[in-house]
Amino acid sequence: MASADKSHLPRLGRVRAVVGKATHDLDAAAFAELRGRFPGGLVLDLGTGDGKHVLAEARRRPDTVVVGLDAQPDAMRRTAGRAAAKPARGGLPNALFVWAAVEQLPSELTGITDVHCLMPWGSLLRAVVAPEAEVLRAVAARCAPGARFLITLNLHAWRPPVAEVGGTAEPTPETAAGALAEAYAAAGWRLDTADYLDAAAIASLGTSWTKRLGSSRAELGVLALRGELGPQDGN
Ligand SMILES: C[S@@+](CC[C@H](N)C(=O)[O-])C[C@H]1O[C@@H](n2cnc3c(N)ncnc32)[C@H](O)[C@@H]1O
Repeated sequence: MASADKSHLPRLGRVRAVVGKATHDLDAAAFAELRGRFPGGLVLDLGTGDGKHVLAEARRRPDTVVVGLDAQPDAMRRTAGRAAAKPARGGLPNALFVWAAVEQLPSELTGITDVHCLMPWGSLLRAVVAPEAEVLRAVAARCAPGARFLITLNLHAWRPPVAEVGGTAEPTPETAAGALAEAYAAAGWRLDTADYLDAAAIASLGTSWTKRLGSSRAELGVLALRGELGPQDGN
């Protein structure tokens, strides 16, 4: 679980790219060059874990840069190594893995067109369910107008509740449309839909975390929150 102390993490203003066991700094020019080669947009997968969802998205959208970001770099190293292979060997030149916490987004990450956050835990879970307006606003400020978000909440975080969900009740489609939607709106996130996902929809996400949960539980509760986010006046 990500700790609250982020002092060991990279500073703002550089993209710390994970490629297998190595970690490289990508400067603004190199990042801009990558964006230029894939002009379809920029998907940011917050708390990417082992990065499997990034591979699926990068394959599905070959004209788009797909960035998997996580406060802990080790789980994504293997996937990042696979993505860095030559395309003929299954590499995905539009996939990038970045070691950073959501609270300390590298300044190069701007013009984001899609924010994904699948099965968050730790401080990332707290940020999206409390919700923490400062974190949500900072992400929205990095987005292009009309950017879309997808958050999938593992409802077992409330069964029983983990510390990060605080005193919040397990969200339902109805309650999400109420208080949570209001708090999101104040941070520049417009919640459009909140739906339970069935097994097929969960499988289509390409996250291995749900497979792990699915193998150990009779029923898998996942609530998907979708909507639009973007810079607000004054950002
Ligand atoms: C349960 S895993 C889910 C991984 C992946 N999204 C999936 O669905 O397979 C949650 C991830 O969130 C990451 N995380 C937690 N707090 C974070 C933060 N503040 N910033 C970035 N990542 C964070 C953790 O390191 C972990 O990899």
